[in-house]
Amino acid sequence: MRVSKAGRLVVLVSGSGTNLQALLDASADPSYGVRVVAVGADREGIEGLARAARANIPTFVEKMGDYATRAEWDEALAARIAAYDPDLVVSAGFMKILGKPTLDAFPVLNTHPALLPSFPGAHGVRDALAHGVKVTGCTVMLADEGVDTGPIVAQEAVPVLPDDDEAVLHERIKTVERRLLVDIVGRMAREGWTVSGRTVRIGNDSGGEST
Ligand code: GRF
Repeated sequence: MRVSKAGRLVVLVSGSGTNLQALLDASADPSYGVRVVAVGADREGIEGLARAARANIPTFVEKMGDYATRAEWDEALAARIAAYDPDLVVSAGFMKILGKPTLDAFPVLNTHPALLPSFPGAHGVRDALAHGVKVTGCTVMLADEGVDTGPIVAQEAVPVLPDDDEAVLHERIKTVERRLLVDIVGRMAREGWTVSGRTVRIGNDSGGEST
């Protein structure tokens, strides 16, 4: 089985970019084993791009509206990413589903503010609240062509408190999500990972067998 490694990262963002910031902060320490080589976005004027600029990381923007078809945008985005020759692409609050050109060319890690397979899609926090769950959380997974359906790498639970609204709950989740994402990306980079069906394993973990 192929063991993938992930030292060079392209991070994709659509908004505030606090997950990106957490990755940038962690990668300032060489022992973390990760270099963010570029940050891409699907829109201009967002804080995620400003964070990259402040860290002197190259940025690019590919807007879907600039292309006649979704397929052309998919190709253009994949080409922009490829120019930075990443080992891993991290979709960190990137609000677009990635197409085949990107997914076929690079492993893509995604983060979602709910415990998948519950509450996939753009409103995972709102949907969990509306359902009345008492525990939700965050999921780090590999992206596939579905909406939050890829193999799960890691999850962590977060309590829902009685007076939560969407913003308060999302902030509580994001605090955990940033730590989990930084931990998982670093471990994938330093130890490598394998995927077998839906099972993702980081490093040479033999699944608990002793030798
Ligand atoms: C995260 O909760 C992510 O899972 C969701 O949007 C949020 C992005 O936050 N899709 P930020 O832009 O990293 O601050």
